[in-house]
Amino acid sequence: MARKDLIAGNWKMNATHLEAIQMVQKLGYRLDPGDYDRVEVVVCPPFTALRSVQTVIESDYLRIRLGAQDVHWEAQGAFTGEVSPLMLARLGVKYVIVGHSERRHLFGEDDATVARKLRAVLAHDMTPIVAVGETLEQREQEITEEVIGGQLQAALEGLDPATVGDLVVAYEPVWAIGTGRTASDEQAAEAIGFLRRRVAEGWGEAAADRVRILYGGSVTPGNVAGLMAKRDIDGALVGGASLDPDKFASLVRYWI
Ligand code: PGA
Repeated sequence: MARKDLIAGNWKMNATHLEAIQMVQKLGYRLDPGDYDRVEVVVCPPFTALRSVQTVIESDYLRIRLGAQDVHWEAQGAFTGEVSPLMLARLGVKYVIVGHSERRHLFGEDDATVARKLRAVLAHDMTPIVAVGETLEQREQEITEEVIGGQLQAALEGLDPATVGDLVVAYEPVWAIGTGRTASDEQAAEAIGFLRRRVAEGWGEAAADRVRILYGGSVTPGNVAGLMAKRDIDGALVGGASLDPDKFASLVRYWI
């Protein structure tokens, strides 16, 4: 079964809600209806801009999907400063990134937390984009597969094959994020091929055929086409280059 490509912009802690409105409007102008038939386009603004971006998407009838960068695992409660999956779902959020390396490394999120968040996202009928990736040290120690396989296993443990088939996984080597140092097409395809085999082993061929696995880490309009040409790579999770609507639009239209 053909997997639909997905290109998601992770704006991280950038853009006030006013800037976010302009960014999504510009992106909308630069994309053609046919682009959305080829690629699912997602933007993940900061929490404070979700409502504004949702309004633009709805009022301009844009086919851009709304994503969030993180979530808490409970629907409500005494969790000062957190945002719940229920709140996101009510805003029309379709995708939620869980386990981004900045959450894991800067904010101490462990595999158990990532697994809880992933389940909370699913429970509210949104799609998790679960991020995994090795550090430079781990790559040099040649334990990349152990690390990313372990992160994948911990996140997906106990899920049924149909659910796993609907997920999005993002392979994001930590050394490639925000560094301008992209993984080569071959390195990315190799790691993503490995993750797909792990899904096949744990949840069956049908799930492995359906699960979409993205690459992330210094993706730009200049290198996206090479990555997308790899059979196992189903899209990209883009940080820096997603902040400029011109750049992000040309990255989405990677075949042109
Ligand atoms: P980058 O970030 O494109 O700026 O490297 C990718 C990510 O963190 O998702």
